[in-house]
Amino acid sequence: MPRIPIAAGNWKMNKTSQEASAYAEAFLPQVKDFKKEIEIIICPPFTALATLASYFRNSPIKLGAQNMHWEEKGAFTGEVSAPMIKEWGCQYVILGHSERRHIFRETSEEVGKKVKKALEWGINPILCVGETLEEREKGETEKIVEEQLLLGLSDIPDAKASSIVIAYEPVWAIGTGKAATSEDARGVISFIREKLSSRFNVEISGDIRILYGGSVSPENVLDFLREDEIDGTLVGGASLDPLKMIKIAEETLRAY
Ligand code: 13P
Repeated sequence: MPRIPIAAGNWKMNKTSQEASAYAEAFLPQVKDFKKEIEIIICPPFTALATLASYFRNSPIKLGAQNMHWEEKGAFTGEVSAPMIKEWGCQYVILGHSERRHIFRETSEEVGKKVKKALEWGINPILCVGETLEEREKGETEKIVEEQLLLGLSDIPDAKASSIVIAYEPVWAIGTGKAATSEDARGVISFIREKLSSRFNVEISGDIRILYGGSVSPENVLDFLREDEIDGTLVGGASLDPLKMIKIAEETLRAY
């Protein structure tokens, strides 16, 4: 089975639920006829999930959260759990985003516990990995990516591994307008697939989708999509504009 490509938007801490409604009204008519050949996933802030769930019901658009806690409930002020995001209609959850790792000091061990819990609830994790500029300049890209990947997947049974999506997001390319070259992205993504083959097996590794993220735009998205190893993109800034996200989804559909 060929891997189904993904066009995913990470809104980060942007848009109230009223603004999300306006987005859905512009976005949905343009993408509602997209069939199963690609998956379009929108990851808004928690507060807009319920609104978007009602717009996207009976549409091909899927919803994702941007984070969750590894426990299901309890005394964790300010946190949100897997059953809660599931109830909001999330089929995906972004975990280990570099902003969570670097600004909020999330560790790879914590990310691993979250990946495991998401899978237990039938939510597909989008596990983000990527090196900082300093790490890249020190020649540590593979070391960092491998460590984040293996700790993020430390307790995952083979039977559930194919539902995981990996996003390679070099930190220096996020929000900077300086995307990685498609060759660079392909190189690291091939390395990730090789590591997934040894962590699981070649067949499972061949089923796992690996995305590129970092300054993806309607203008450069095709460069990444042309690479066989890259199964789609995780888009930040450009995904906030429904017209740009529609274009990225169209290019994704065209490229595969
Ligand atoms: P930008 O597309 O704004 O660089 O953000 C990428 C990202 O962090 C997606 O998760």
